[in-house]
Amino acid sequence: MSRSVDAVRIIESKRDGNELDDDEIDWIVDGYTRGRVSPEQMSALAMAIYFRGMTDREIARWTAAMVASGTRLDLSDLTRSGRPVPTVDKHSTGGVGDSVTLVLTPLLATWDLAVPQLSGRGLGHTGGTLDKLEAIHGWRADLDAADRRRILEQTGAVICAAGADLAPADRALYALRDVTGTVPSIPMLAASIMSKKIAEGTGALVLDVKCGSGAFLPGRADAEELARVMVAIGTAAGVRTSALVTANHTPLGRAVGNSLEVAECVEILAGGGPPDMIALTCSLAREALDAVGIDGDPRDRLTDGRAMDSYRAMITAQGGDPDAPLPVARHTREVRARAAGEVTLDALGVGRASWLAGAGRTRPGEAVDPTAGVLLHRVEGDVVREGEVVATVHAGDPERLPAALSELEGAVGTGGPGTSRGPAGTVLGRLRGW
Ligand code: URA
Repeated sequence: MSRSVDAVRIIESKRDGNELDDDEIDWIVDGYTRGRVSPEQMSALAMAIYFRGMTDREIARWTAAMVASGTRLDLSDLTRSGRPVPTVDKHSTGGVGDSVTLVLTPLLATWDLAVPQLSGRGLGHTGGTLDKLEAIHGWRADLDAADRRRILEQTGAVICAAGADLAPADRALYALRDVTGTVPSIPMLAASIMSKKIAEGTGALVLDVKCGSGAFLPGRADAEELARVMVAIGTAAGVRTSALVTANHTPLGRAVGNSLEVAECVEILAGGGPPDMIALTCSLAREALDAVGIDGDPRDRLTDGRAMDSYRAMITAQGGDPDAPLPVARHTREVRARAAGEVTLDALGVGRASWLAGAGRTRPGEAVDPTAGVLLHRVEGDVVREGEVVATVHAGDPERLPAALSELEGAVGTGGPGTSRGPAGTVLGRLRGW
């Protein structure tokens, strides 16, 4: 039997609703990573998985096969100032305005621990941590294993791309899912996230599972199921894993878009910034500290400058200049309230407006516009007068503005008292595997 026939049989089997066995999963993941299975075949399988789903056993094996496609790092002997430290990381399933990682990573590194963060690029309407940090002059996402370790030991924090050595199957599949409409699938989201986190060698992990229109899986029940699956995978792989399910029906913070979100994070590290971002960052920080047995108050370290010092060290260690001015869009347009009342802002619409303005990609590998995005002058629940400015769309390319503006106008609403659905970032549930 030829290998292409095997791939076809696997696709047919999943299409017809069967459970794939371990050998089939190992073979197809390995085959796709090595180029023996074509992108057309993997796209068809991804769509079959999207519709048919996977059992917990299949998801665990798919994740293990993605980890086995590369190296699994061991950071258990990591030290800072000559003393062994635990490792803990955080990952979000993807939302709108979610730049928590940029604040949380250096904040956590102010304690005696290390945060070995492997991040991704924007996917669909959501932003990616690496795209955001690349708005900082000189900052590099690509580090080899030796640099990653050296920076972790020096500063306690690293945020970088998964190199070719770590879960290469995810790198290939992530790009394919983005352009084939197969991102919102619990098995593939769980395996994508957990394969990178297991491979990076973290000892503990806190997951921020988003729900609401900004998330890939807007429904609360789906978000809770995704949290359950990921916590189970992490725990079984020996990683102390927990998850917070958090609200993203409206954007988190006031900035959406790469450079705009970095500026907002710097504001938070300087002791200011939007309350919803600060509250969620502190909730995730407490969860991460609990996971490694540290008792501490994250809020103090945001206001007393320690988190800022840690951020500056982390950015500098990766070639970035924390003092360089951030790029600013050459073109902006305002959106005003059509009526007086309580504001609602739909996360998906704002995320799409930012993406249309140039903050995200329409093709794999495309460059993003660091200046593009949306700045919110008013947030969900604020009371406005008719004609008041609610948001501004930013773009480097003026031709992108009309589509982005029309999307943003559709995302802004006003209504009577009680219209607001509450702030973003509210913790709706928690699940611990330890
Ligand atoms: N983040 C990931 O790493 N993978 C996904 O599929 C979605 C968000």
